[in-house]
Amino acid sequence: MYSEKVMETFAHPQNVGVIEDADGVGTVGNPTCGDIMKIYLKIDKDTDVIRDAKFQTFGCAAAIASSSMATGMIIGKSVDDALKIKNRDVVEALEGLPPQKIHCSVLAEEAIKLAVDDYRKKQGKS
Ligand code: FES
Repeated sequence: MYSEKVMETFAHPQNVGVIEDADGVGTVGNPTCGDIMKIYLKIDKDTDVIRDAKFQTFGCAAAIASSSMATGMIIGKSVDDALKIKNRDVVEALEGLPPQKIHCSVLAEEAIKLAVDDYRKKQGKS
């Protein structure tokens, strides 16, 4: 049911954890499955470049693989470019997700967006 890439990413996720002094934090949950994803961002305030991203995901294999992939994709990008990453980009990087698991990748897109919103609010940039 899962691609090899999903299985590999789920088994060895990158960027798991918490950034204590995060500049932006985004939490989303899916009320249907009950899964929760929290993404922390460390951002260079002069350049708006994401220096680090970590996640805590209480959810299924697809949600954990999506979190790992999405955080890896945004590190080194500006917050504007990070917002351009859509769930379909995460799905593509994971070499596909089963149709009933697409919503898991949407959590990653939404959590990034909320974390960036949080950063901008704290910076008075929103
Ligand atoms: Fe809901 Fe995967 S089943 S996030």
